[in-house]
Amino acid sequence: MQSFKRHRRLRANEKIRQMIRENQVHVQDLIYPIFVVEGEGIKEEIPSMPGIYHFSLDLLDQEVQEVVELGIPSVIIFGVPHEKDECGSQADADNGIVQKAIRSIKQNFPTLYVIADTCLCQYTSHGHCGIVEDGVIQNDASLKRLASTAVSQAKAGADMIAPSNMMDGFVYAIRQGLDEAGFAHIPIMSYAVKYASSYYGPFRDAAHSTPQFGDRRTYQMDPANAREAMREAESDVAEGADLLIVKPALAYMDIIHQVRERFDLPVVAYNVSGEYSMIKAAALQGWMDEKQTVMETMLGFKRAGADLIMTYHAKDIARWLKEET
Ligand code: PBG
Ligand code: ZN
Repeated sequence: MQSFKRHRRLRANEKIRQMIRENQVHVQDLIYPIFVVEGEGIKEEIPSMPGIYHFSLDLLDQEVQEVVELGIPSVIIFGVPHEKDECGSQADADNGIVQKAIRSIKQNFPTLYVIADTCLCQYTSHGHCGIVEDGVIQNDASLKRLASTAVSQAKAGADMIAPSNMMDGFVYAIRQGLDEAGFAHIPIMSYAVKYASSYYGPFRDAAHSTPQFGDRRTYQMDPANAREAMREAESDVAEGADLLIVKPALAYMDIIHQVRERFDLPVVAYNVSGEYSMIKAAALQGWMDEKQTVMETMLGFKRAGADLIMTYHAKDIARWLKEET
């Protein structure tokens, strides 16, 4: 009898390593976030997110064409409106920036799967994800605005609605709104577990959505809590969510894993802006190898149990995967 195990037999060369690999990243796993702005001739790099841009609609086709050619199946659209007000009027406007972007993308690239992020914070003057009265975020009043925003996005042609606002009952309200408006076939990808995180910093630069007073800790979750995440996910499942997002991803791998174990819905890891910028910055400094680090991170999400990954690295990943085949 041998006295120790020889694990290295299965690591001897790339062939055998490939044959026994337990997890893999596929281009089909990827969802690419795109930021759209009003105006013309705008392709402006977001300073805190090298390689990610604001696009005006006339320059959007180029970017989307690239995404399609790389085989990335899906994009999620974030809008920066030209005007903000107390109730976020532009969020559900028929000619809102996201609605126009969705219409244009679906017209020119009908097979691309277009997801709409449904929130109010980019559209409200105070920058909160809900309606504010006397400095307090109003849960139930926000639900009506969120439902009508989702409906207007579905009308524009969105294939899926992704509500990120963290009000209680948002999945229920949006599901009802969509069903009543004839969009019972449109799935909801819920930001079921969303933590109040400093990893959103670069996104808030990009979306101009930093709260003007206070913070988001009365609706986004406390990073200390894991059991509470299960309660959040459970209520979204009960209210009719079709997919569950965990956000951020990197510091919350345990949550991705637990959501995977506990629920049977597809699980989505949102590899958020700060996670992107950290790797990007280190790579630009020459401190880390970008490709190796990104791919290892993606594999980590898959191993934790993610089915899909929303990531700003998506185009790079798709390119690297192509090079390998
Ligand atoms: C808006 C929203 C945010 C993100 C996605 N939707 C920011 C926030 O809650 O402050 C973060 C995305 C990222 O950091 O990449 N509700
Ligand atoms: Zn928001």
